[in-house]
Amino acid sequence: MCGIIGYIGDRQAQSRLLKGLARLEYRGYDSCGIAVVTGGVEVYKDTVRVEALGKASPRFKGTMGIGHTRWATHGAPSQVNAHPHLDCTGNIAVVHNGVINNYQELRNQLTSEGHNFTSETDTEVIPHLIEKYYDGNLMGALQAALSDIEGSYAIIVLMTDEPKLVVAKKDSPLIIGLGDRENYIASDVPAILDYTDRVIYLEDGDIGVVTRNDIRIERDGIEVDREEHKVLWTVEEAQKAGYEHFFLKEIHEQPKVIRNTLGDYTRDAELVVDLAGIRDTGIESMLMIACGTSFHAALVGKYIMEELLKIPVRVEIASEFNYYSHTLVKNIALAIIQSGETADTLKAMKRLREAGCQVIAITNVVGSTASRIASQTIYTRAGPEISVAATKTFMAQLMVLYWLVMSYSKADARRLTSLLMELRQLPSKVQQVLDNETEIIEYAKYLSKYEDVFFIGRGINYPIALEGALKLKEISYIHAEGYAAGELKHGPFALLGSNTPVIAIVARDNTYEAMLTNIKEIKARGSPLIALAEEGNEAIEELADSIITVPRVDTIFSPVVNIVALQLLAYYTAKERGCPIDFPRNLAKSVTVE
Ligand code: AGP
Repeated sequence: MCGIIGYIGDRQAQSRLLKGLARLEYRGYDSCGIAVVTGGVEVYKDTVRVEALGKASPRFKGTMGIGHTRWATHGAPSQVNAHPHLDCTGNIAVVHNGVINNYQELRNQLTSEGHNFTSETDTEVIPHLIEKYYDGNLMGALQAALSDIEGSYAIIVLMTDEPKLVVAKKDSPLIIGLGDRENYIASDVPAILDYTDRVIYLEDGDIGVVTRNDIRIERDGIEVDREEHKVLWTVEEAQKAGYEHFFLKEIHEQPKVIRNTLGDYTRDAELVVDLAGIRDTGIESMLMIACGTSFHAALVGKYIMEELLKIPVRVEIASEFNYYSHTLVKNIALAIIQSGETADTLKAMKRLREAGCQVIAITNVVGSTASRIASQTIYTRAGPEISVAATKTFMAQLMVLYWLVMSYSKADARRLTSLLMELRQLPSKVQQVLDNETEIIEYAKYLSKYEDVFFIGRGINYPIALEGALKLKEISYIHAEGYAAGELKHGPFALLGSNTPVIAIVARDNTYEAMLTNIKEIKARGSPLIALAEEGNEAIEELADSIITVPRVDTIFSPVVNIVALQLLAYYTAKERGCPIDFPRNLAKSVTVE
């Protein structure tokens, strides 16, 4: 997920491009760049935030330009990998948001035809393809280039001596902002709202030419009309796509994040990370290290692996692991680290590498320190996560763990096929939980009155009790504790009573009867009880004071639907308490100190 922008008009393009890009940084901020036509094409790009780029870049005099703020997917953040990208002549410049799946083949083909590539990105094939097909018709050249490309894209192209911007859209957002003798193109409305509230939303398959006075959009070679809309949002509202907080927006992005993360790994066999160690040496055990929410994902991973790989799995909190004195055995280790910069986890990764372990990082940030320390890196495709409290990156980590384990599972073919089928249905199951938001809002209002709350779970949902408690703690400041349900009677029972509500995660698996017993024990001690359970569970309806229903899934996938309900519960509880949800006190998105 990157942010792109284009301007063509009578006024100086540079300041408008920079202002618009700054408004798009929630889409990616590891590097950025602009290109302005000043006679030739002038480019300035670097691994800095937009504000710094604006200060450092020379003044380019020109009324047509494009810009980009990046969230790296192919090629680590660097000056050469930043956009815009040029062709061999330097006359064609392109900015792109999306992923080109067949870029390697295209690159090899173009290189054999004499094109020189300077970056590691997938995007750079676009200006070279346009150069290859250009015969005086810039839109025609882009059209031809697109027929070679497989993947998702929002593209803006400019060329010296061509007083137009050419655009195309497929599976990535792209809008046109209408002005008076000027027009804007951007990934999203925040980029243009300072200048106009009149926009056209392009549709998949659209390709178009934008000049200062005119817009022509085609689809399959036929001109099409796209309706003009008036934007009623403020810039800030638009950055959050109309949601009040990034936290809520990111919760609602999870069906798409599941599709993106699974899509990447199940679509392209080549991308399948070959855990050579597992296949060749037939691994006997797995070590996972992480912190915070990522540690909870690792705990879920432990249950999945032990069930489907039949191997013992050790999960360690990185900050503790770093002070264990015992010698490290040669092993395969998974480091789960969304930011790629958490000091405790990086230190543990270095220790493991020094001990000769194969360390595989699961991270959301391309080019992060973790991806440089790791022997291999698997990227989650959650896009940038702005809210400090992690939600969609946790979901993407679970998807990578499901995919990884199912790729090596020893389960019988029938079980595996049914699990794969259900894995593909997870986006719609999660959507069902999101559609049930109103029910959760009621329970949040109730919960917001309390200062102490317990979450309990068993088996694969014990980590979800921990994660549910962490989310509530982080954003509502309620003292919430997550427990393995069987542990309560060994002490925490002492805290139960009418002022300590308990949220019980009830799964229909071998822990079901034991959980019913725990619920009865809790009720007997006077605590209000909210159960999180599948629809149509009479026994729970009798026992619990209230029930948050989630759709029925195979138990191994129950963490996916359960955590979304608990994320929403935390959000609406915090909202009821008027908390600064996206940027809670005392917390940082990436903890880069020990
Ligand atoms: C989660 O909401 C928190 N932001 C925090 O616990 C976080 O998960 C932890 O700091 C680990 O971050 P990482 O995944 O980037 O290593």
